[in-house]
Amino acid sequence: MQIHELPRRPNRNLDHIPGDYGLPVIGHTYSLLRNSHKMGKHMLDTYGPVFRSSALFQRTVGLVGPDAARFVLLEGEKNFAAEPAWNLIIGGLFQGGLLLKDFGEHRSHRRALQQAFKRPVLEAYCNSLNYYLDEGINSWPVDTHFDLFPRLKGLLLENAIQSFFGEDPDCDTQALSRAFIDMLDATLTLVRKPLPGTKWRRGMAGREVIKSYLKSQIQLRKANPGNDFLSSLCTASDEEGRLTDDEIIDHMIFLIFAAHDTTTSTLSSATRILCQHSHWQTRLRQSFAAVQGEYLSMDDFAALPELDWFFREVLRMHPPVPGITRRTVREVEYGGYTLPANASVFVSIRLMHYLPEHWTNPETFDPERFSPERAEHKRNSFQWLPFGGGAHKCLGLHFAEMQTKIFLFQLLRKFSVALDPKHAPQIRAVPLEMPKNGLHIALKPL
Ligand code: HEM
Repeated sequence: MQIHELPRRPNRNLDHIPGDYGLPVIGHTYSLLRNSHKMGKHMLDTYGPVFRSSALFQRTVGLVGPDAARFVLLEGEKNFAAEPAWNLIIGGLFQGGLLLKDFGEHRSHRRALQQAFKRPVLEAYCNSLNYYLDEGINSWPVDTHFDLFPRLKGLLLENAIQSFFGEDPDCDTQALSRAFIDMLDATLTLVRKPLPGTKWRRGMAGREVIKSYLKSQIQLRKANPGNDFLSSLCTASDEEGRLTDDEIIDHMIFLIFAAHDTTTSTLSSATRILCQHSHWQTRLRQSFAAVQGEYLSMDDFAALPELDWFFREVLRMHPPVPGITRRTVREVEYGGYTLPANASVFVSIRLMHYLPEHWTNPETFDPERFSPERAEHKRNSFQWLPFGGGAHKCLGLHFAEMQTKIFLFQLLRKFSVALDPKHAPQIRAVPLEMPKNGLHIALKPL
């Protein structure tokens, strides 16, 4: 079957696979939204690493473990499509994005987008990231408790618009940020029609605002390119993969989507963990003595192994994207079961990061598990998977790494950070891991 022939709704015929569909109509939706990790672990412990379940009005096959991930993302990759699975979640709003393409078309667009993520381009972003993050952090209150979460979210969105779209003194960053927030809000709504007063309608209107801004910028960037993602795509040669103006617009809009909530989640988790394990503030700060000057460059990373272990452990314990969703393109065998064509499949990243057969004391925060002496993540190349793997592996992983490390450097070289004891932090895991009621902290100048 061709992908475009797959019915929109996934195959419901999964009764031959162990598992259960939960309550009538709502299935396991309530348990999923309440505590997705507990629900997944219960299914794994009860039925094993291949199980059927139902949530959010959809039947799905859950697959757990590095071997399952390798099978779906690499070895049996031709049997699994991303577009039909992701389209249900972000189609319409983020149409034309890279995750909404598969196989040959996906390969050629990915090659074109890779221009924007090459080392020299990333190095150029490094300077502006240092500047914007330092400036943003310096604008936050000190010696008083405040909710960091909305400030972090705002800072990262403005920062993404500046890094991705480039310098434009006339750009109304606030208006573009609002348009993006409307689009992000619309991804969470069940009403996916542009009815008056709905979030969907606001989201689609937001898309038009950003589209028309990008349209006005493309000719300017072609004539006078800068050090930004948009310029890289506008100036690509045929060999590198030239995209049409409409394709560039679709990709730029998707890039901000892919970057924004994931990096907000990562920096929120990293800050919360710094507060909960405050000796790591001291340890990282001491390691920063190896850096000359006030900006962290990509060349400095090699001299800061502890920063790397910290970054990896944050993403192991709190992967922003809880798992990878796909649709089978044809009937496929896995683990002794037949997955029918057009079945929805979910590979849980979070469950994998807590499997005791792959990680020592997985519930314990222990960055040194990534040290060369222990290197637990090397036991299986698919057991640490915050950025996915295979054909759709995150294109922005080096950008995300750079941004997180620069944020921690700029924060810790000037401040210590502590939680507000009146607001115990809570986390929601779905659709992406985020603080539930804000992230209340205090910054103390050193
Ligand atoms: C810590 C932050 C991030 C995490 C945890 C993350 C995670 C992921 C994951 C798990 C996927 C694979 C999804 C799948 O296979 O279904 C993915 C894909 C993608 N990510 Fe990220 N991401 C992060 C940051 C970013 C940033 C900053 C950008 C852009 C600058 C970005 C751009 C993309 C793109 C374009 C794809 C689609 C790749 C493709 O389809 O070929 N991501 N990301």
